[in-house]
Amino acid sequence: MKRLVFGGVIAAVGIMATSSFALIAGSKHDLSNTANMIRAANPADVNNEICVFCHTPHGSNNTFVGAPLWNKAIDTTVTYQVYGGGTTTAGTTVDLPGDVSRACLSCHDGVNAINSIINLPGSGGWNSAGNLIAFTTDGGTTTIPAGTAATMPPGITQIGTDLRNDHPVGVIYRGDEASPPASLVPTSTALPAGFVIAGDRDGNPGPTVGDLLRAGKVECVSCHDPHLGENQHS
Ligand code: HEC
Ligand code: HEC
Ligand code: HEC
Repeated sequence: MKRLVFGGVIAAVGIMATSSFALIAGSKHDLSNTANMIRAANPADVNNEICVFCHTPHGSNNTFVGAPLWNKAIDTTVTYQVYGGGTTTAGTTVDLPGDVSRACLSCHDGVNAINSIINLPGSGGWNSAGNLIAFTTDGGTTTIPAGTAATMPPGITQIGTDLRNDHPVGVIYRGDEASPPASLVPTSTALPAGFVIAGDRDGNPGPTVGDLLRAGKVECVSCHDPHLGENQHS
């Protein structure tokens, strides 16, 4: 799976708009694209913007730090069942999903509203509890009216709240231990050629294993870049 270059700082949300636009536009994460089954019913409600479903330059969710300038309300009372009953086969503890994974689950858990937007484009549309915009999950055959939560329909993209059948997230990467599990390389290990990722999170030169981790753990974004546009394999 390939990850792409992405700006490293929060202030870059605006600056990076052009390049990430190109990646998200037309993808399944382009929730203004009328070719998608799951999307805003009336993309004009959000000025046809595509970042707005996840980010806003102002007035973002200030209690959620998992992803920059997050523009969604997140139900933090949702409980998740973790992989392996809390332990991997190598004996590593699997914690609850980290904040950045909760950002993904805020659409993919089938409980949180996909159509929650704190700061709507234009003036007067700010609601810290999230505005629920008119939405469709079946390509427009049915419209879920504004004010009603639209959740991820059943299917493989509804990861759900039971994560026992999903790759562990919230799991410490143990490659830097004195006697690491046999399959794990140190976090300073360079990623394969052609692997290009955003920023430098671990201080080691070049894209390394450590750059894929968040707080030393494997999370959803260790394997997927939400801006990449597709769940590519490489
Ligand atoms: C489906 C949700 C989603 C959409 C749509 C989205 N983002 Fe993001 N964005 C995220 C998440 C989640 C993160 C945190 C990623 C991480 O930690 O790896 C993020 C991080 C970022 C970052 C910081 C990257 C870094 O390495 O620190 C920037 C800049 C950004 N997004 C810009 C944009 C722009 C511009 C758009 C619209 C063109 C956009 N995003 C659309 C979910 C989204
Ligand atoms: C704003 C809501 C939202 C957020 C936040 C979000 N997604 Fe999605 N994602 C969707 C929707 C809607 C689809 C399309 C699902 C479908 O068609 O069944 C999707 C599809 C996907 C796909 C399949 C892509 C494809 O081309 O088949 C992957 C992989 C994915 N998301 C991963 C993530 C990850 C990882 C995160 C967090 C970094 C994330 N998503 C955050 C709404 C979201
Ligand atoms: C260790 C890597 C890894 C982690 C961590 C991971 N995924 Fe995936 N994910 C994959 C791979 C590989 C695929 C493609 C599977 C396939 O083609 O059957 C995938 C597929 C998906 C799909 C598309 C499902 C489909 O078959 O169309 C979604 C949605 C998704 N992941 C979301 C998430 C979310 C949300 C998280 C965090 C809770 C997550 N992933 C964590 C590797 C990962």
